[in-house]
Amino acid sequence: MNKIILIFAFFALLGLVSAFRKNNFSTEQKLAAATSKTAETFCPNPKFRPEAWMKKFLDGLSGSKSDSDQIKYLQEQIPTDSHVFSSDQVIQTISKLTFDSSRLKSMELLNPYIQSLSSQNIVDILGKLTFSSNKMGALKLIANTLTDISDKSKNLIANQFTFSSDKNEALSILNDISPRNCIYGTVTAKIAIFVIDTSGSMDFKFKVNGETISRIQFVKAQLTKTITEQLKKYQKFNIITFSNQASQWKPDVIDATPENILAAVTYINKLGTSGATNISGGLDLAFHTKEILNTIYLLSDGVPNSGVMTVEGIKKYLADKNSRRQEKVKVNTISFIFGGPENQDERNLSFQFLNAIADATQGSFKGISE
Ligand SMILES: *[C@@H]1O[C@H](CO)[C@@H](O)[C@H](O)[C@H]1NC(C)=O
Ligand SMILES: *[C@@H]1O[C@H](CO)[C@@H](O)[C@H](O)[C@H]1NC(C)=O
Ligand SMILES: *[C@@H]1O[C@H](CO)[C@@H](O)[C@H](O)[C@H]1NC(C)=O
Repeated sequence: MNKIILIFAFFALLGLVSAFRKNNFSTEQKLAAATSKTAETFCPNPKFRPEAWMKKFLDGLSGSKSDSDQIKYLQEQIPTDSHVFSSDQVIQTISKLTFDSSRLKSMELLNPYIQSLSSQNIVDILGKLTFSSNKMGALKLIANTLTDISDKSKNLIANQFTFSSDKNEALSILNDISPRNCIYGTVTAKIAIFVIDTSGSMDFKFKVNGETISRIQFVKAQLTKTITEQLKKYQKFNIITFSNQASQWKPDVIDATPENILAAVTYINKLGTSGATNISGGLDLAFHTKEILNTIYLLSDGVPNSGVMTVEGIKKYLADKNSRRQEKVKVNTISFIFGGPENQDERNLSFQFLNAIADATQGSFKGISE
């Protein structure tokens, strides 16, 4: 038995080597080879909403509010903390809502703040909804948070539906998922511009799953995963980096074809770090694209020490940039601070600065730190 497997492996390898020598890999195969290393980069365990925040939040959501007031409250309160929701916290939240329709609406609002769920978590959440159309709506939102992807877990989830047509639809949703990324979440924007901090501090290292990795190595791995696993042909993208100055991969956004994605992976691999944090320099280039419906994904591990440096200044800067456009650009921001010498004050300042950018552009903010 083992011998047979060995022989098979030998011939498979021979085939691979000969294909390689003929340089006859398909773009898909090359992409798979380029990303197989990064696929092993685990995400740090997320930090969930603090107990005290949850208590105040749930008290405010009490049943005495009307249906529409509850939704308004969720819209206002959910973005006031940067941590993700655990499955229990999701369930506690939807349990406070009276109507099935508002429970589904709450899932839409909570969705950007959910990172990963087990199949059992998803089953528990769907169990809080009554109508199968609402269950299906919720599944569409959170399916890509599933961590234990297997036929068994997909069937477990599909079995939450009564009718076989619904079961089939659930399975087809689950068979089609592109995993949510722990840094970038789900990138569905038609035009996605990734703006990345490559200042010197991005070299600070941290430990995840026993492996020591620098901030920049981690971000490069997660960006690679995001563009290879998520981007579809209907999307366009570009990559911009900033330190003292900003630079861009392509002069403008380009189609997310397999060839372009492969070229982007090569570009990402070569990124290094040095110098200062000129966030507005990066934004200058990102706002340059003429395409409409842009979403910028801005990642930094600090506050700017070059370019526009104050919260008031950056708000004015963004208002000015967006006032020149018919379609406003949304900036989703991520403050990523693992490892490094930053104290709590410095971390908070980074959170505040990046949160202000998201706030000023109707984007979302995510703070990822120890
Ligand atoms: C490359 O692969 C394609 C399809 O897999 C095949 O048709 C073609 O003959 C191959 N070319 C070479 C040089 O091996
Ligand atoms: C910040 O970056 C922009 C874009 O590259 C550049 O024009 C500007 O001079 C930079 N600012 C400083 C202070 O270097
Ligand atoms: C930083 O922010 C956290 C959470 O928002 C808060 O609890 C803490 O008091 C802040 N620390 C400082 C030094 O501002």
